[in-house]
Amino acid sequence: MDLVVRPGSVWAERVAGELAGRLAARPSLRICLPTGDTPVPVYDAVVALVADGACSFEGATVVLLDEWVGLPPGDPARCDTRIRAQLIDRLPAPPAAVHVIDADDPWPGAAAARHDVEARNLDLVVLGLGLNGHIGFNEPGSRPDDPTRLVRLAVSSREAAVARYGATRVPTAGITVGLARLLEAGECWLLVTGERKARILRRALEEPEGPDCPASYLRRHPRLTVFADEAAAGLLRR
Ligand code: F6R
Repeated sequence: MDLVVRPGSVWAERVAGELAGRLAARPSLRICLPTGDTPVPVYDAVVALVADGACSFEGATVVLLDEWVGLPPGDPARCDTRIRAQLIDRLPAPPAAVHVIDADDPWPGAAAARHDVEARNLDLVVLGLGLNGHIGFNEPGSRPDDPTRLVRLAVSSREAAVARYGATRVPTAGITVGLARLLEAGECWLLVTGERKARILRRALEEPEGPDCPASYLRRHPRLTVFADEAAAGLLRR
């Protein structure tokens, strides 16, 4: 595992620079991206790098990490709404493909199975860290061999949908790329910022792995890089 710690003032530029480098090295990059608040400054910085001509998403395939089930199309908390507003729609040339999750399918389990196919052969997965140790919507209790699937959301995730992301109703379920797909990707990045994530980051990286903290399984990945700001890394023994 590589641990990259930077001051909050330059953290996003550091991650964006790495991403631009991956895109430049492999224009056909297949990349799985999260929403949430953590990657927002990274997406801002990437958009600026694309505008400067440092990289392009034109040949890339973007696979969405997760989606709420039960929120109407266009809901401000929807992951497809957010990734388009924060990244995709700001690019001068769209990615070659964008695979969002069809959470409006009356059979969400079937939509999850279809997305599991898109989530294979990923070059890079980018993840945020939930305060309860979740990764995507792989909530506590998830296992390393879980595929992309329909899941029941933890209470804290339901509350976050409304309180933090402005959902118009409380979702109780979601679809998430499973740990099996995340662990088989070519490279895995975990993005963590802020003092409130310090305790769970220490749990994920320095205490025994286990289903109570799905992020702890990421240590099995042979090419895991954790990008943390100084506040989030504050409790790590380094
Ligand atoms: C979002 C996602 C979630 C978030 C996590 C952290 O697509 O998969 O697992 O990454 O809840 O959220 P923020 O970044 O808002 O603290």
